Amino acid sequence: MSTSKLALHGGSKTVTATRPVHHRWGQEELTRLTAMVDQNSLFYSKGPQCAGLLEEFRKTYPLKWAFPTSSGTASLHVAIASLQLPPGSEVITSPITDMGSVIGILYQQLVPVFADINPHTYNVDPAAIRRCITPKTRAIMAVHLTGNPSDMDATMAIAREHNLIVIEDCAQAWGATYRGRPVGSFGHLACYSFNEFKHVSCGDGGIAATNDERFGPTLAKWGDKFYDRNSSADARNPTTLAPNYRMSEPQAAVAAGQLVKLPKIISDHVRLGSHFLKKLQSLALPGISLPEIDSRDQHSFWFILIRLDPARFTCTRDEFTAALVAEGATASPGYIPRPVYKYPLFQNHNFFAGQWPLRDAGLTTMDYTKVSCPIAEAVLADSVTFTIKPEMTEEIIDQTAEALAKVARHFAK
Ligand SMILES: Cc1ncc(COP(=O)(O)O)c(C=O)c1O
Repeated sequence: MSTSKLALHGGSKTVTATRPVHHRWGQEELTRLTAMVDQNSLFYSKGPQCAGLLEEFRKTYPLKWAFPTSSGTASLHVAIASLQLPPGSEVITSPITDMGSVIGILYQQLVPVFADINPHTYNVDPAAIRRCITPKTRAIMAVHLTGNPSDMDATMAIAREHNLIVIEDCAQAWGATYRGRPVGSFGHLACYSFNEFKHVSCGDGGIAATNDERFGPTLAKWGDKFYDRNSSADARNPTTLAPNYRMSEPQAAVAAGQLVKLPKIISDHVRLGSHFLKKLQSLALPGISLPEIDSRDQHSFWFILIRLDPARFTCTRDEFTAALVAEGATASPGYIPRPVYKYPLFQNHNFFAGQWPLRDAGLTTMDYTKVSCPIAEAVLADSVTFTIKPEMTEEIIDQTAEALAKVARHFAK
């Protein structure tokens, strides 16, 4: 097919618009940090910055109990620990997610079970959840991948049917809504991340939250050595094992400042992400499929994953992506390199010093070398990520779409 010369081959770049300099952190954070310096303590418990953070958080997520944590991973560990599930219980989750989703499950001596995903939303397919249910299933961790809300109606229906607890991993989905309500308000517990790369960040941080009377009252203790900060008499008298995952006041000051700006940050992601998808829809490029978003929901476009039909192109996905990058597009191949269960950690069951005590004790027969989620594997092999950042301009987005069209036409069969 005749096309203009790719930048990769010495042609001119398509994305020429410059990305404006952007300061993610500014006066909102500085004001809080300055106030913090005058405090006598930087400790979270009753700290004004952590309290301010939760006040901002609840403007979007009205969850009664919320515990600020040192990371998103920590928030998920706190949530899963608070369920107090017997060792060997199974938790169904996505094979395409960050390790943070499964670390807490493993540390609590539970078994992550990976359910395959929907090929168009990249979230776990409710039918696959059903196929994974066994007598040992106790919970589902729903991951709202890329900012696209997972199917919570179907997930909660399955949970009700089988008496399961649902934790929503909202790390990638700040600002996303499902049927008009924010993600995190459907399951029994919700977890969020403030790591460097998320919509809002304090470097590292997270929040675990719930409205559920069963888990709320002890939630903080699961991230604070099981100390009871509300009891002045006998705070340090733990009745069970829990790590220290507390957030400190400097983190909270920055995270709170970020949440003040959340509506604007999300509206920028949504505006630019929707613009990009609209542009790609109008180009209707053969061999390229776009993510499916339910019209009742709000994707918050942490990033956009598109898929290439390998049969329609003369190049590999990695060559295609390299050509996009040469055009100046902010693109990268896939998301994680392989599904979580394919990591050496899982393939070797190397969870605790080369062993998996849970399996050695006969509490599970799980063998991750036998797990297969073909759709997840295909998506990770044929997809391309486009980053959306609030400082991008519509001109950059338009040029990125043009770059995709140029590369797709060049490599079309
Ligand atoms: C879906 C998901 N869950 C959990 C985490 C873990 O968050 P953190 O990096 O804050 O520990 C991440 C971070 O990348 C994530 O994307």
